[in-house]
Amino acid sequence: RKNLVVAIDGYSSCGKSTLAKALAKKLGFIYIDSGAMYRAVTLYFIRNQVDMTDTEAVKDALQHIELNFHSRDYQSHITLNGEEVSEEIRQMPVSENVSEVAANKFVRKDMVKQQQRMGKSKNIVMDGRDIGTTVFPDAQVKFFMTADPKIRAERRFKELQSKGDTTTTMEDVFENIAHRDFLDTTRAESPLTRAEDAVILDNTEITEQEQLDFAIEQVKLHF
Ligand code: C5P
Repeated sequence: RKNLVVAIDGYSSCGKSTLAKALAKKLGFIYIDSGAMYRAVTLYFIRNQVDMTDTEAVKDALQHIELNFHSRDYQSHITLNGEEVSEEIRQMPVSENVSEVAANKFVRKDMVKQQQRMGKSKNIVMDGRDIGTTVFPDAQVKFFMTADPKIRAERRFKELQSKGDTTTTMEDVFENIAHRDFLDTTRAESPLTRAEDAVILDNTEITEQEQLDFAIEQVKLHF
């Protein structure tokens, strides 16, 4: 491929999007948050009470979903059928259901197809769970991110609090992260796993700047 693809995969809430955004900004690449797509689909399924066990209902619902990114500012602003849902998809009802929805074969097929189209000709940084393994196995640069689960929960808890969520406890966040990791790594359809050629990045004890510097060095090897 002529365009450069940086794939960032890893566990829930370990700073993938923070690194991906900073990296995209620094490199002048487009940032694509694949998790936001699964979250927006989940929001649609919740609102329309789509029965996940009904294959026809799932396929039909997918035909009625149109997702769009407005990522010029490297944020994950996403619209669901024209409606801005970036805030709502980060809240607990979506977080609690997204891994079940993302395990669905038809949902994945549809999302992967759209993601591959977005990375066809432009330089991109995409983060998710299967980017380096399934979506862009030929990505030139791959990272696999991880961090101590307690630290991850603390970071996500603070983020929810700063957004005014006063009902979700630290324990809720910790359980949600652990549960999503479990579902994401054990599902049948492209489970979360490190691509053989992915560089491991454990950010438990390093700063955002250090991660960015490290990532830039890795990308430079491919210029
Ligand atoms: O990245 P984020 O935590 O927002 O993703 C939410 C959920 O979407 C993940 O827990 C996972 O179940 C699903 N996901 C996925 N494949 C991706 C990105 C996200 O299955 N490429």
